[in-house]
Amino acid sequence: MKTGIDRISFYSSRYYLDLKTLAEARGTDPAKYYTGIGQEKMAIPPPDEDIVTMAASAALPIIEAEGRDNIELLALGTESGIDQSKAAGLFVHGLLGLPARCRVVEMKEACYGGTAGLQMALAMVQRNPGSKALVIGADIARYDLGSPGEATQGCGAVAMLITANPRIMTVEPEAGIFSDDIMDFWRPNYRSQALVDGKYSTRVYLNALADTWGQYTTITGRGYGDIDRFCYHLPFTRIAEKAQERLAKSAGIKPDDETLEQVLRRSLVYNRITGNSYAASLYVGLNSLLDNDDGDLGGKRVGMYSYGSGCVAEYFSGIIEPGYREQLFTGRHRDMLDDRTELTFRQYEDMFTLNFPTDGGEHTFAQYRTGPFRLAGVEQHKRIYKRAE
Ligand code: HMG
Repeated sequence: MKTGIDRISFYSSRYYLDLKTLAEARGTDPAKYYTGIGQEKMAIPPPDEDIVTMAASAALPIIEAEGRDNIELLALGTESGIDQSKAAGLFVHGLLGLPARCRVVEMKEACYGGTAGLQMALAMVQRNPGSKALVIGADIARYDLGSPGEATQGCGAVAMLITANPRIMTVEPEAGIFSDDIMDFWRPNYRSQALVDGKYSTRVYLNALADTWGQYTTITGRGYGDIDRFCYHLPFTRIAEKAQERLAKSAGIKPDDETLEQVLRRSLVYNRITGNSYAASLYVGLNSLLDNDDGDLGGKRVGMYSYGSGCVAEYFSGIIEPGYREQLFTGRHRDMLDDRTELTFRQYEDMFTLNFPTDGGEHTFAQYRTGPFRLAGVEQHKRIYKRAE
């Protein structure tokens, strides 16, 4: 029985900082960001947006189109958790009005959390083909102001409906898997910004790719030429080009610009203007590919590389279903991205440095531009979510 992605929907903040503005403020050549790391804009969440509002906003179009019946799992992958105990997905479950007969869990392993949720969902649907799962990746990438990681911030969420006989992508069962206890990127509980050994992290990302790709090709007997499109975890888009060159080199190929354009670059379009969204990022890439590739991808195989620092990596693949385009929310995604508000550097720093109230009092948050849901305030340490007006 085929299982996989039946619907996929992406949401990101309505605010962004152009990396030219960041470059000017930091005295850096903008080409370092635009070309060197391959990023143009980073999405910045306003004070009344968090992973719950982004996750619910990503999932709502799917619920409106498909209803709530038989959704027996909501797995939310994130490393921007809002509570040490309660799963953030429970707030999403409430906002979306999902059935009580639904397992709700939070998956954490840095950027791998979304893939962990996907694998759990596929296993559940295999066992009970009448059931469906909502898998969401949602994150806010934050590094210290002025640090090398600053230009690789961003935020966003991707929601996927996982079913039997999916209409967008059947996920193939084989995978290369790799874990190692390392410190390339981490965020202790007492910090709201991640710490990172940047250069080391990129080396480990590429080494884990080589390992998982090697396993994948051995298990499947497939090679570089059997993959039609490539999607990677995207901390910044330039790393995907490096990854692609590595895989091609292992097959004795040097891809030219035209080939990279065809097999890779449509998956980078959204990330380039929204930035890293950690657990969502690989799936932002997949959604970008589906929305922006002009060719008919029906029947094509997509290679998927998931990487979460710390680290866990996985290489797997899927086959795009004929007629997939009818299931996409392409127009909605484009409208959202075209209708964002650019921040000044001062506004960016003000949003960044705003402290979340921790005194247990009653606080109401000013209304910014958000999706259908917003974080209205906090009372007695409880977050209050509302429909945006
Ligand atoms: P850096 O040290 O400031 O940058 O930080 P750099 O000096 O290495 O320059 C970057 C690139 O720009 C270089 O290209 C330069 O040559 C080029 P490369 O040598 O790499 O090909 N460059 C220029 N190009 C054109 N014109 C110019 C110019 N100047 C320089 N004028 C770093 C870069 C990525 C390390 C930093 O941004 C960082 O620490 N980022 C955060 C960590 C990260 O994203 N790691 C990626 C792998 S780990 C991962 O993906 C997991 C993660 O998503 C977390 C999770 O799992 O949860 C992060």
